[in-house]
Amino acid sequence: MECDFKGLVDRARLDLDVALDRAGFEKVKADFLGPNGQVKALFNTLASAGKEEKPRLGKLINECKARMEEIFVEKLSQLEDSELSDSLGPKIDPSVPIVAHGGIHPLSMMQETMAEIFRKIGFTIALGPEIETVWYCYDALNMDESHPARDAIDTLYFSESLCVKNVPRRGDEHHILRSQTSTVQVRTMLAEKPPLRIISPGRTFRRDTMDATHSANFHQCEGLVVDQGMSVVDLKSVLDFFFKELLGEKCETRFRPSFFPFTEPSFEMDFRAPNMGKLSNQWIEVVGCGMVHPNVFSVVGYDSNAWSGYAFGFGIERLAMLMCGVDDIRLFYQNDARFLKQFAA
Ligand code: DAH
Repeated sequence: MECDFKGLVDRARLDLDVALDRAGFEKVKADFLGPNGQVKALFNTLASAGKEEKPRLGKLINECKARMEEIFVEKLSQLEDSELSDSLGPKIDPSVPIVAHGGIHPLSMMQETMAEIFRKIGFTIALGPEIETVWYCYDALNMDESHPARDAIDTLYFSESLCVKNVPRRGDEHHILRSQTSTVQVRTMLAEKPPLRIISPGRTFRRDTMDATHSANFHQCEGLVVDQGMSVVDLKSVLDFFFKELLGEKCETRFRPSFFPFTEPSFEMDFRAPNMGKLSNQWIEVVGCGMVHPNVFSVVGYDSNAWSGYAFGFGIERLAMLMCGVDDIRLFYQNDARFLKQFAA
């Protein structure tokens, strides 16, 4: 008697291919290797085989059985793997492109919007270091050590042992974290000749306790124009243009007298606009500004008989909070995706 052993193994393999779960697997296994299965039937045929045939046939049937058992073990291990990965939750396919949209941080967006508006009227961007010296932050801005205005914005000092190599200092003056971006006025004027027309956005630091409206780390934008024959009218026109571009034609601005050591005269600028939620049509104070003080010109070696100029500065967080309806400054720094997502395009 002869039998197609290879054909039997192939059939078992085909049946196993379509078995998708344990139940399907057990059924095929019973068909071929069970007590009433096809391999058992082969062994039963041995009884009627001739005496000389028996050993050879027995060997072939055992080989067929062994081959069959191998493919069942293989299939079982595949099934176990897929059961495990099913139990680990949804499959992740790293080849699928990510469809979630990223977004720009609201403070970066605010800075970009501002820069875009100032670019339209000829301003370029100047940047300065966040680690400064006391001279750039105060003395050169007409605020010597005894000046009371210095106390109000006193800042974070580096200890003597911390050597800040790349920010040169005069004598043994202190290195500090800058408390205002007005430092960039001085740096720009020392480095360049007039006329000048710059804005300088950047990070600033103060020894403030954090709450909904204060942060020891925040951002400002400074503006400086030096040219011939500049007046308060030029200053007001530029700020009025900026706020109308930002908040619409209906936005109005007003100046109130104020004091800053590095400008004379000095002003606070308020705006009011109809689209400001709870603060609609209320005067809101946002900008400090004025005409560059002659003492500042003399520090940087500009002739104040030949040149005049104006400067302004405002807080970027404050403007972003007003524009985005955010009532807690801390939200900008917490990186909570639920907050940030609201600004993602
Ligand atoms: N640096 C000031 C501050 O931090 C803001 C400021 C006021 C800037 C008047 C100016 C200015 O340029 O002219 O409060």
